Order: sequence, then C-alpha cells, then structure tokens
Amino acid sequence: MAYLKNAWYVSALSTEVGPVELFHRKIMDTSILIYRKEDGVAVALHDRCPHRFAPLHLGKRDGDQVICIYHALRFDCTGKCTHNPHGEGRIPQAAVVRSFPLEERHGMLWIWMGDQPADLARLPDFGPLDEGHPHGVGYTYMHMKANYELIIDNVMDLSHIDHLHGEIITTRGKLSPKVPQIKEGARSISARWEWEQTPAMLIFADHLPQPKEEARHFFDITWTPPANIQLSVGAVQNDGALDLANCVGQYDLHTTTPETENSTHYFFATRRNHIEDDAGYNDMKIKAMHAAFENEDGPVITAAHEEMGTTDFFSLKPVLMTNDIAPVKVRRLLSKLIKEEQRPDALAQ
Ligand code: FES
Ligand SMILES: [Fe+2]
Repeated sequence: MAYLKNAWYVSALSTEVGPVELFHRKIMDTSILIYRKEDGVAVALHDRCPHRFAPLHLGKRDGDQVICIYHALRFDCTGKCTHNPHGEGRIPQAAVVRSFPLEERHGMLWIWMGDQPADLARLPDFGPLDEGHPHGVGYTYMHMKANYELIIDNVMDLSHIDHLHGEIITTRGKLSPKVPQIKEGARSISARWEWEQTPAMLIFADHLPQPKEEARHFFDITWTPPANIQLSVGAVQNDGALDLANCVGQYDLHTTTPETENSTHYFFATRRNHIEDDAGYNDMKIKAMHAAFENEDGPVITAAHEEMGTTDFFSLKPVLMTNDIAPVKVRRLLSKLIKEEQRPDALAQ
C-alpha cells in the first residue's frame, strides 16, 4: 500500500502517553515506540531492537534511555546504542534504532514517517482547539478495521448523517438534496453546506434563543494532507454571518492514521463555543460522539471495507453521485501527491 510518507500523522493523543510508560503503536506497517523523556518531551523510535528484533516497548527505562528486554542493549532517546553488556562491550556500528520526528500540538503527538527532513511548515494549525476553557474541548481515539481512505470519504460526505445517524444530528432531510460548494487548493479540498431546519439540529437547539423554531445552519469542512479533516458546524437564529463567530457551534478535527492497509487509528477532537465550562456536559458530549462513530459509522465502514476486498476503490467502478464530489476530489488529490512523492526526483525537491 502506498502512503503519503512525508507528512505529519497523529501517532497518539497526548493523554495516551503517560510520563513513564513505553507506549507502542503500529503506524503505516511500522512498529513505533513512543515515550516521554523525564522533561515530558515525547520521542518516537522504531519499536524494534536491531539485534534480534525484540520490540523495545517490552524492555524497561533507565532515565531517558531504553534497555532491550532480551540481551540488554541500551539506547538513548535518539536511538543511539550507549551500552552493550556482552563481551568487551564494544558497540556495533549497526546498533542504531531509527528515530522519528515527533511534535506535540493541539493535544496530539504528530509523527513524521518520511525520509525527507521533517517540515514543520507542513504541520497543520488547528489552533482553535487550544483556545478557550479546558472543559470546552474533548478528545477520543478509535481503532477501525477499515482502510483510512474510507473514513476520510465518510467525513467528506456528510449527506449520510440523516440516513445512518440518529435523531440527535438529523437535518430533517434538508442536507441530502443540497450539493455542497467546493473549493480546491493546491493541497486542500473544502466543502460547505448551508440550510435551514425546524427545529435546529438537536445538539444546538437548546442553546439557541428559541429551541423549537427554525434556524440557519452550516457545515464547513476542509481536508488537508495526509488525512486531516477540520469540520465546523453551527446554527443561528439571527441574520448575521453563518460562521462559528456568530453561531452556536463546534470546531472539530477528524484525523486518521493508517495502521496497515486494512486498519486505521481514528483520532477525533471537538471544541464547542457554548457552555464551555460545563465538565459534565463535556464528558457526555465526547462519549456520545465516540459512540456514534463506534456504533453507527464504524460498523458500516468496516462492513463495506470487507465487502470490497480491495483498497483500490475506483477499480470496483463505484456509482458516483453528487454527494461524492468532495470525497472523490480528496482521493484524486491524495493519489496525485503520493505519486509525486514517489517520483525518482522527488527527494531533490
Ligand atoms: S534483541 Fe535486543 S539486545 Fe538482543
Ligand atoms: Fe457519520
């Protein structure tokens, strides 16, 4: 499976990696060890000892160093071998573990898996997740037995929400007939829907002045490589702008990281702009969203993945409708970026 390698993927939520544990996760078919140094800064190494390939996460820590469980080679946080307890203690030249650039931003640990130098300019800015009350933001992680592009398709095509999801986010049939406005950038695809419904989407209705009356709504979603979708949604009952500054709404990030061709790490974050200081509501909200992905989106995506028997979506000659415009544009742009990266001269760019 070809992945876009020279890009930032989320390896873990910040909260998943504790201060002392040796956390491990497979990313794009490669086992990765993540741990926090004593100063709290997280680092990533190939989770494989170069001697006899024991996973390093099975070993133990000594300060910022890791000792392999099998024959006790010791490595520092850059992957350099610092101690060999065998024979005369000579350190073999090949005793090096690959390290991966890791950056902690927006409550997530972003990893660079490519061979080109890590490019911080390519690390997306999802700053609004960090701005506001700590109880106004929630994070969750799901493991999905499906190819990551199917999960991107699902978020880029929101027309499924009235058909697959429950009452809580229904648009009362208003969204499916709409064809979103699409914007294409050199490295982005955006889609926007606007509609009215009565009453408002139930997640927002009680926070509007007239919960039972009509409200104008919008969805704004933007995909950026490799696999991030920033989604904003809101509702309003005044004549002002249809944006998050004027609406009751939320700023979400869906981001997926391939584990293998057939499985995906799905990370989700949501910041709302109403009752931001309510810890109980915050907890309920992230649990409800997690449950919707796990019980509603997850089963159908997984079943479709199994039914397809391939990750070459277009080879199956899918029926394409107006609601597929945004996801198909994302698939085409991602595939173009992957092909460009694989060109023999790509390293020189
Ligand atoms: S496998 Fe790690 S020291 Fe032997
Ligand atoms: Fe969904």
